[in-house]
Amino acid sequence: MPEKVIPIRPASGFRQSGTAPLREPYAGGKFVDTLGRPLRDLRISVTDRCNFRCVYCMPRDVFDENYEFLPQASLLSFEEIARVAKVFVSLGVEKIRLTGGEPLVRRDLERLVGMLSPLGVDLTLTTNGSLLAKKARALKLAGLKRITVSLDSLEDATFKAMNDADFPVAKVLEGIDAAAEAGLSPLKVNMVVKRGVNDDQVVDMARHFRGTGHIVRFIEFMDVGSTNGWRMDDVIPSAEIVRRISAEFPLAQADPDYRGEVAERWKYADGKGEIGVISSVTQAFCSDCNRLRLSTEGSMYTCLFGQQGHDLRTLLRSGASDESLRDEIVAVWRARGDRYSELRTAETARVSKVEMSYIGG
Ligand code: GTP
Ligand code: 5AD
Ligand code: SF4
Ligand code: SF4
Repeated sequence: MPEKVIPIRPASGFRQSGTAPLREPYAGGKFVDTLGRPLRDLRISVTDRCNFRCVYCMPRDVFDENYEFLPQASLLSFEEIARVAKVFVSLGVEKIRLTGGEPLVRRDLERLVGMLSPLGVDLTLTTNGSLLAKKARALKLAGLKRITVSLDSLEDATFKAMNDADFPVAKVLEGIDAAAEAGLSPLKVNMVVKRGVNDDQVVDMARHFRGTGHIVRFIEFMDVGSTNGWRMDDVIPSAEIVRRISAEFPLAQADPDYRGEVAERWKYADGKGEIGVISSVTQAFCSDCNRLRLSTEGSMYTCLFGQQGHDLRTLLRSGASDESLRDEIVAVWRARGDRYSELRTAETARVSKVEMSYIGG
């Protein structure tokens, strides 16, 4: 037996594999995977490229000038993405998040947002903020509802060491201000916390955004992909983050906004807003996971830690009907039994997995 590296939440809520009702109609989302979970959240990666080289995501020694990114022809076009998204929505998807890589490096992304906006779902985007000052207004006008910006430190030296692209904090803060001014709200800020790298800045980050209406979420460093050299020792458990912030600004836990929410919410006792913690390592949340990821080249991944995708592009490009696309998606979802974070061990962390920049965060 491999040694467990972390305590995991018991899987008592699970239905056993194979017990999902296979004959249920699936229009309107009445279908579930083998663990009884519905499909609600679609995350679409629009590019595998990024102008940052975050050490925990795209380490520069791997993603260097010789790294072969996907050729243009293999990317789903905006028209293809919009068609697939509509099919997903007809199956019960309620939220669409555009990701990457860095989604804003894909040219004219606001055109895609404009095509997705009529679907009427919670339409959002995760960005590193570098191009946001330029793009925020156009994205809002195109119909984007809200936005999440990654920012790992408020200190240039630490931030630059983490993004490895010499990108300054001030530019991301400018992007955040522009997004807020444009009315992209609520605005969330994601900070990946890595021990000994930026964990000394957790409280500063909380202090900076307290009272602004923006919600900082502290994310445990995860073993996504195969290149980031993950070790359990590098993870600061969320409980520790809450303890540190609470020591300065008392916090009280709040109810989730919706079932399956990834972040655990904590409100400041003095009413000055809230923070979130995302504890994929120390408190896995697979039992409610309703997310499917669509890679840049149209492959479906039913887990962030997937080793294999399910190609949808071939079907899409061979003239398949919406009905056939629906059948394929439902078949993939019904066969799903993923719960990686609940099964994580030191050994699984070393297994080859797909990179987050490819399938989307
Ligand atoms: P809201 O829609 O605002 O609730 O945000 P979200 O939590 O769905 O989206 P976001 O992309 O901001 O997620 C924050 C981070 O949580 C991601 O960047 C990942 O690091 C992590 N995360 C999101 N989804 C999953 C998941 O399905 N599994 C795991 N293990 N981590 C996830
Ligand atoms: N662990 C935790 N979060 C990660 N992200 C990227 N790689 C990792 C990792 N190894 C987060 C980024 C961003 C989102 C796209 O995913 O910080 O907020
Ligand atoms: Fe780029 Fe985001 Fe990955 Fe950083 S975490 S390298 S900004 S895709
Ligand atoms: Fe979902 Fe996989 Fe993350 Fe678990 S590890 S929450 S199944 S994406």
